[in-house]
Amino acid sequence: MSLFAVDESKCTSCGACVEECPVKIIAMSGKLPVPVPELVEFCIDCGHCVTVCPYAALSHRAMSPSQCMAVPVRGGIDTARAETFMRSRRSIRSFKKTALAKEDIARLLDTARYAPSGHNSQPLSWTVITGRDPVRRLAGLTADWMESVLQANPEMGKSLNFDRITANWKLGMDVISRDAPHLLLCHADQANVIAPSAATIALAYLELAAHASGIGACWSGYTQYAAANFPPLREQLALPAGHVTLGAMLLGRPKYRYHRIPVRKEPGVEWRTS
Ligand SMILES: Cc1cc2nc3c(=O)[nH]c(=O)nc-3n(C[C@H](O)[C@H](O)[C@H](O)COP(=O)(O)O)c2cc1C
Repeated sequence: MSLFAVDESKCTSCGACVEECPVKIIAMSGKLPVPVPELVEFCIDCGHCVTVCPYAALSHRAMSPSQCMAVPVRGGIDTARAETFMRSRRSIRSFKKTALAKEDIARLLDTARYAPSGHNSQPLSWTVITGRDPVRRLAGLTADWMESVLQANPEMGKSLNFDRITANWKLGMDVISRDAPHLLLCHADQANVIAPSAATIALAYLELAAHASGIGACWSGYTQYAAANFPPLREQLALPAGHVTLGAMLLGRPKYRYHRIPVRKEPGVEWRTS
């Protein structure tokens, strides 16, 4: 197949695929959409042309309409429910001891891959660490990193609360990995300039997917920074060559349920019309 094929018996010439193509490589030729030959190389395989077509008339080399799940109106959720759902997500820091099933985590990752990424490049890789002991061992290396920061730059270390965190760690209180049964790392090639935002968004998706499944999640910024910057932790993680950790998230069954949504600041917005 060339870039895409159009079923003439289904296409109504509505032009939605032409208008929605993000890189503008589709044009109408008579009544049918066609790829502009000299622009085909710019296609990012996003599938918008296939999935915006109401009549399943267009089949792309990367996907056919039959491979693409049908979408209920507005994703099947009304505005009020979506808002309550998103506002009621909380960072979970107390976990039950039992581990999650591998399929549960795989399902979260399966949703996270639908997060947007620049140029639809989907540049992310994931590492899932399971078990309170291995997760805690990595937290220990994060505590070592904090000690090294406190020694090199005490003022900065204290401003980040590293003195309190490491003191608690020595007392056996794990405020780094929160005794979670799983630690999820998101990583990508460190030369990829698009990957950091893709990782942040994918983890935000994953956290919301966890909330929808009754799974507790908490960003672990300390682990992320240590994993990116502290050689002993980098070595321990042994990620693929050239990869850097771009996000870390703790996962497990929540010990507590939140009964109310906490108050947050009003957004600082300036509305402009010129
Ligand atoms: C990038 C990032 C890093 C974070 N790192 C940590 C962390 O290391 N430890 C932790 O307990 N919470 C961490 N959090 C969670 C925030 O503390 C939390 O989102 C904030 O307090 C608001 O609470 P909520 O998520 O329940 O609304 C992090 C959040 C983000 C977005």
